Amino acid sequence: MTVYCFNDKQDSCEALAAKISDISSQVLLKQRFFSLVLSGGSTPRYLYELLASPKWQDKINWHRAHVFFGDERCVSPDHPDSNFLMAMDAMLKKLPIPGDQIHRIHGENRVDEEALRYQLVIESYFRENAADEPLFDLILLGLGGDGHTASLFPGDRALFNAGMVTPVAAPTLIEPSVQRISLTFSGIALSRNICFLVDGASKSKIVEAVLADDSDKYPASVVQRGKACWFISGIDCGRLKNHF
Ligand code: 6PG
Repeated sequence: MTVYCFNDKQDSCEALAAKISDISSQVLLKQRFFSLVLSGGSTPRYLYELLASPKWQDKINWHRAHVFFGDERCVSPDHPDSNFLMAMDAMLKKLPIPGDQIHRIHGENRVDEEALRYQLVIESYFRENAADEPLFDLILLGLGGDGHTASLFPGDRALFNAGMVTPVAAPTLIEPSVQRISLTFSGIALSRNICFLVDGASKSKIVEAVLADDSDKYPASVVQRGKACWFISGIDCGRLKNHF
């Protein structure tokens, strides 16, 4: 686990944009495509706008990128709660990514059917990979105040679902309280690089708790075991020093 701690979100996102650019350049030396999984919520909006800005847009070969989503709310793609809509508005519509290389989760579909369809999309994209070979080159994740990540909520039975994609019941304590479709722990763990982006003093306690958690109390703890990196801002870094 590597933790990078910054005073503000701008610095954190500049550093994460640089990491994404570096990883994509390394990957494209060996592979035809770079696969990136986007996280939802509100935190990554600034990062996405930065990646689409003149400074960063040309540093990633978007023609050779495939974009996936770590999770989606079961709403239509034009609904204000749609993770796809946020990513499209902040970044994707500004980038030269061929439309068939953006793999939207169809939140408007029946949740169980869509979970299956999205899993088949992922399997098809990685059909040449060996069974145990990592799938995604980089996945971006957020952290909820209850320690959830993607749409893997504490205590939810979806945590134990097999496969790479799972339907998730509407969370009762987390807004928006709508059904979700999410990568599972297995789906996330098959990523070569896992980067959490967390910002704001309101996340201070949960960040500290997750970094200190060695009993998998939180879904984010399960995901971050070992190979994750954290890009943290707006939190007293001194308090985190004991955990990395
Ligand atoms: C979602 C996200 C979720 C999010 C966290 C943090 O669909 O809501 O995938 O995991 O990353 O809840 O959300 P904020 O960035 O809005 O705090």
